[in-house]
Amino acid sequence: MSRIVVTVSSLAARPPLDVVVVPVYFDRKIATTLPKALEKIVREQMRKLEFKGGWGAAELIPAPAGRIAPFLALVGMGKEESNPSAQAEAVRRAMGKIFQDARRHALRQIGALLPAVHSSEIAMAVVESAELTNYRFAEHRKQLQKDQAKRALRKLVLFAPEKNIPIIRRAVTNARTTLAGVTLTRTLVDQPAGHASPLALVEAARAIAQDSEDISLTVFDRKEAAKRKFNAFLAVAQGSIEEPYVIHLTYKHPAPLRRIALVGKGITFDSGGLSLKPAQHMTDMKIDMAGAATVLGVFSVLKKLKLPIEVHGIIAACENMPSGSAYRPGDVVEAMNGKTIEIQNTDAEGRVTLADALTYACQQNVDTVIDIATLTGAVMVALGETHAGMWTNDSKLGKNLLQSAKRVGEGLVALPLPVEYRPMIQSTVADLTNAAGNHPVGGAITAALFLQEFVKGVAWAHLDVAGPVHMRKAILSYYASGATGYGVRTLVDFLKTTGSQA
Ligand code: BES
Ligand code: MN
Ligand code: ZN
Repeated sequence: MSRIVVTVSSLAARPPLDVVVVPVYFDRKIATTLPKALEKIVREQMRKLEFKGGWGAAELIPAPAGRIAPFLALVGMGKEESNPSAQAEAVRRAMGKIFQDARRHALRQIGALLPAVHSSEIAMAVVESAELTNYRFAEHRKQLQKDQAKRALRKLVLFAPEKNIPIIRRAVTNARTTLAGVTLTRTLVDQPAGHASPLALVEAARAIAQDSEDISLTVFDRKEAAKRKFNAFLAVAQGSIEEPYVIHLTYKHPAPLRRIALVGKGITFDSGGLSLKPAQHMTDMKIDMAGAATVLGVFSVLKKLKLPIEVHGIIAACENMPSGSAYRPGDVVEAMNGKTIEIQNTDAEGRVTLADALTYACQQNVDTVIDIATLTGAVMVALGETHAGMWTNDSKLGKNLLQSAKRVGEGLVALPLPVEYRPMIQSTVADLTNAAGNHPVGGAITAALFLQEFVKGVAWAHLDVAGPVHMRKAILSYYASGATGYGVRTLVDFLKTTGSQA
């Protein structure tokens, strides 16, 4: 996919454009200084279209926008006094609509005037929206490849006052660095399971570690993982002919202020195993490695950031398949930390693999462990496809993650770990059961409580991202259907800000 050329310049430079974008605060207040002729046209169009600048509103108008461009776009920023994250998300959504419309008409050179206030945040939001909207998974679609070549956004110009240009250039570069990671994650998640085996994840990790002095990679194959007592993980893996791998990426600054582990669920395909999923629930299950893909996406960004931290990326990658060698309902496995697990349902496999991945993560001398997992259908019932659920044993970590999510415009909601639900994962034949089969309520919570049994001595947060990593229908303007790369932007923001403070 060819990259968008992004430039930052003053309005005095008049590059050839197809569309010029004007930001408007509610209620009809133009958020930037405009040349007189253009201002007149904007006011006229606002009146005609009853455009008020409401949060996320957008209009693409085939009207001559002064002498700047043949099309004009109005973008609603919401209230002028609202905080920069709210304005940034308004811009992502409104620009997402504009970019989609522009694509339909093959308008490939777009210029956006930035507001004077919060201009760095807004510049980042415009670039994020452009990159997110431009993404298509075209590898197996010849026609779409041609379409991309004809319609994808080619040039984005951000207009800012001369004195702000350097700082905005820096913001744009930062946004693009993160977005490259988001794109990597989306590509991995969109890839069919037949093309994205556990070994393919190892190769993706290897590509990230390859030419970096700060990142190292350790991989355990089945034999090595067995030696290290990844028994629960290997029980899930044993039904598939795909070889399982434990992937351990380490990013090390020479004087780290914090040590953090990111653990990603890496089920490359979840058939349910012997507790087989019904067909309609199985079709999307290539996405069950989205947590792993998020960790890989974050590491691809980390590589370029030189943050004063140490980060471990841990992925236990395997396939969950039914076969003569598959683990069975009723089996009991002893996890790495010594706790025994009754397998009530082989489809509750994520928590079984994460049990060992979390135990291993806690042994890496880290202060914080964050797991990212497409863990339950229940979290989707509760929160739908734009919000992930978060559980944590540390309120400060929780607050920081929520703040990061808010800043980048990813939906994240804190949910509880009530002790009174703990008996639901009690087993009569083992220490724990992997599915609260005889008390099937609060499924996303009991899954989180199960994971907590494998966390020791660290601040821990669990992100159940089953909903937002993938959209069946594009319900946010800046995503097409398919993978979203959810979590990469939140985690990168977290690592850059509070995650980098001692
Ligand atoms: N990978 C699924 C969860 C999932 C469902 C992710 C839909 C994305 C979309 C997970 O392994 C699973 O099957 N969970 C079961 C647990 C149950 C058997 C206790 C579920 O949620 O139904
Ligand atoms: Mn499952
Ligand atoms: Zn799963």
